[in-house]
Amino acid sequence: MSSDPCSFCSFTRCVTKHLNLNLHLDFDRRVIRGKVALTVEALEDRFSALTLDTRDLKIVSVSANGQPACFNLGPKHSFKGTPLDISLPFDISRGQHVIMEVTYETSPSASALQWLTPEQTAGKKHPYLFSQCQAHHCRSMVPCQDSPSIKHTYYAQVNVPKDLVAVMSAMRDGQEVDPQDNNRIIYKFRQPVPMPSYLIAIVVGALESREIGPRSRVWSEKEFVDKAAFEFSETETMLKTAEDLAGPYVWGQYDILVLPPSFPYGGMENPCLTFATPTLLAGDKSLSNVIAHEISHSWTGNLVTNKTWEHFWLNEGHTVYLERMISRCMESEQFRQFKAMGGWKDLQDSVNTFGANNPLTNLVPSLQDVDPDDAFSSVPYEKGFALLYHLEELMGGPEVFMGFVKSYIQLFAYSSVTTEEWKNYLFTYFKDKVDVLNKVDWNAWMFTPGMPPVKPHWVTSVPHQAKEQDLSSFKESDVKMLSSHQLTEFLSLLLQENPLPLTHVKKMQEVYDLNARTNSEIRFRWLRLCVRSRWEESVPLALKMATEQGRMKFTRPLFREVVNFEKYRDQAVQLFLAHRAGMHPVTAGLIAKDLKVNTSDGTSQ
Ligand code: BES
Ligand code: ZN
Repeated sequence: MSSDPCSFCSFTRCVTKHLNLNLHLDFDRRVIRGKVALTVEALEDRFSALTLDTRDLKIVSVSANGQPACFNLGPKHSFKGTPLDISLPFDISRGQHVIMEVTYETSPSASALQWLTPEQTAGKKHPYLFSQCQAHHCRSMVPCQDSPSIKHTYYAQVNVPKDLVAVMSAMRDGQEVDPQDNNRIIYKFRQPVPMPSYLIAIVVGALESREIGPRSRVWSEKEFVDKAAFEFSETETMLKTAEDLAGPYVWGQYDILVLPPSFPYGGMENPCLTFATPTLLAGDKSLSNVIAHEISHSWTGNLVTNKTWEHFWLNEGHTVYLERMISRCMESEQFRQFKAMGGWKDLQDSVNTFGANNPLTNLVPSLQDVDPDDAFSSVPYEKGFALLYHLEELMGGPEVFMGFVKSYIQLFAYSSVTTEEWKNYLFTYFKDKVDVLNKVDWNAWMFTPGMPPVKPHWVTSVPHQAKEQDLSSFKESDVKMLSSHQLTEFLSLLLQENPLPLTHVKKMQEVYDLNARTNSEIRFRWLRLCVRSRWEESVPLALKMATEQGRMKFTRPLFREVVNFEKYRDQAVQLFLAHRAGMHPVTAGLIAKDLKVNTSDGTSQ
């Protein structure tokens, strides 16, 4: 396991402390012209060379403390990008700083960026740009030490056409008309809390915002602002609940930005500005757990960070644990258990998809030569949660275990940690219960593929009873009495079984009218179920959902489901190829792999 600060060098010779970014957006060419000044601290004497991560960047010039520096771009790696080797024209000693300035230009195909045409936006008038840097895409936007082991503050000035608004994962710090071009505006940002590069984020578009709490606004195109303000009205309550559980919120502002439908994730915990998919706008706040999740990352992930992507479960497992503690406080213990049970099912699905012997189902996988985007699944979330829940039971319940989590956050705040450091602290904190901790099969939990060695006992619930019904007894009230959470779980349970007979899904439609449901979690599961039962009429609906929005959690399985329906395979592939150019680059790449179409003409490989 490595914890190298840059993907390419094998020694930790220096660390970045601060970034000063100047970004000039060119929507016509789909590039950012950038200048970044990195304040770099040497960790060794006679320090005179460093390597930065880049990906598809054009490097114009490099200087060190204002003096020109020699640089060389190395060979391109398939997913790590290209190392930028720099020689300083002088030496510095351990503890000294140097300011490295790199002038560069991004590529129109930068993996961190999606450039949208006006037609792809809700307002249809203005173009739009958004970034998604996690896990290792920041390097396609900014040359940097693109590793979660390094934390720095940042300051940024973003130059955009005057009809557009720029926001970043930082505090807003004013704006001014570009003194050189009064058709453009410069937006300024400061992030005074040290954070890893994957949390740098930018959005530029025709954005508006509305206040939803004392430290929160929602941002989106004007078409969605009111809907978003309603959907996320519980934000301040969630923040306060999280602070009671985990300690003070140190990031100042907590805003939420609703992105266009092609945003590839449900949510992204960019500091001061959570990014959210519009598929959360259910109209009834029923998907707000995603906000509780992103809020929780303000402690686990953004304050205490995984040192490498092999320890990703430390970010996501603890965050799911906190997210469910928030729902325990705001709802009930029963609801937490219900969500935990659903999570176990998601874990089961991931293990089935990857295969129970696949090393990527380890809680702590080896990512040597594995693209973190390919490794992404529910495993770090739900195996991580299951381990923490198991430990909670062993150590004396939620209050006791939350004491540990809070103390872990305090101890490791502003740093990056490995699983070993986490475990050592667990044993220190519970020093009186070491005998119990020693009985845990740590090797099975962490380094063995498949389901965890221990299955927790959850309270059974309505959907489990509903599953037992036979066809003749289907009645409208079965589903009417279920909340949208319960209906989602009910459909998940059905998805774990053999495909339902076509007559059953047709009957379900007739009685429950699930086609009329707009809640994205319900619709997604229902359409999968229908396609799996080979209901031809559901294919266009499934493909519509797969292309109208681009959240990978929905789009990838929907495409895969239709492709498995032999008769519609070609139609699905052709549809993907027709949409590919307008899709998010990461989503398009992963679906091409899923569908095994890697050439632009659609030939299978
Ligand atoms: N940080 C993740 C999203 C992510 C992970 C992006 C890895 C890129 C690489 C975010 O916090 C997340 O987990 N989102 C989930 C929310 C859910 C677990 C409540 C999502 O997108 O669905
Ligand atoms: Zn997360």
